[in-house]
Amino acid sequence: MVINFKNPWHISIIACFLPLFFLIIDILLGNLGANPIQTLHIRLGDWSLRFLCVTLAITPIQVITKWRGMADYRQLFGVCCFGYSLIHVLVYLAVDNALNWSIIAVDMIESPYIWLGIFSFLIITVLAITSPNYAKKKLGKNWKKLHRLIYFSAVFAVIHYLWQLKGNLVQPIFYGILIFLLLLFRVLNYLKNKKLNKLMIPNRSISEQ
Ligand code: HEM
Repeated sequence: MVINFKNPWHISIIACFLPLFFLIIDILLGNLGANPIQTLHIRLGDWSLRFLCVTLAITPIQVITKWRGMADYRQLFGVCCFGYSLIHVLVYLAVDNALNWSIIAVDMIESPYIWLGIFSFLIITVLAITSPNYAKKKLGKNWKKLHRLIYFSAVFAVIHYLWQLKGNLVQPIFYGILIFLLLLFRVLNYLKNKKLNKLMIPNRSISEQ
């Protein structure tokens, strides 16, 4: 495939790989600071959450701009969120804990924030598996209901973030407010559409006349 820098789809795919590319460069150059494993957790965790927020923002952007072609981008950013969170989890399991399951079990008991990460990751995984078009067709109406779970995943991810921080809470609070606003937009839009639909259904007494 030839990369076309005027094609927004190609640009988006390249943009999705950039954080990973820069992370690999920093690993190769030994630029991860005094605590490289923690830096890996932070950078991968942050990008998972950012892609989750971008995925959530697609529907509001679609509603505001009335640009229907955004569904493919939602799928792309959703898959990226899955990719980054998968690497985040693999770093935790294989690099941080050397796949030592007894240490991981103790950590899960001692650090409850890990559970929130697990819940968030499980939802993201289910949504990534069911994101291709054939799964969408197979699930029919249930697909939309299932994919609304993304809000739970986002809330779990923000609590996971908040819970493990000791100091500055500005960033997780920023993500929390952003996710709340995106959810509020969806709820208001749903209520507006419901009201419009009601207005469009003819009143029985009038239609019978
Ligand atoms: C099995 C699932 C998960 C595990 C085991 C896990 C584990 C961790 C660990 C060990 C840290 C670092 C804590 C420290 O600095 O000491 C962390 C931070 C973080 N994780 Fe996860 N995580 C999981 C899932 C997720 C998911 C699904 C997301 C987002 C969608 C996420 C977002 C974050 C964020 C934003 C941070 C904080 C980064 C920062 O300090 O800036 N995590 N996680």
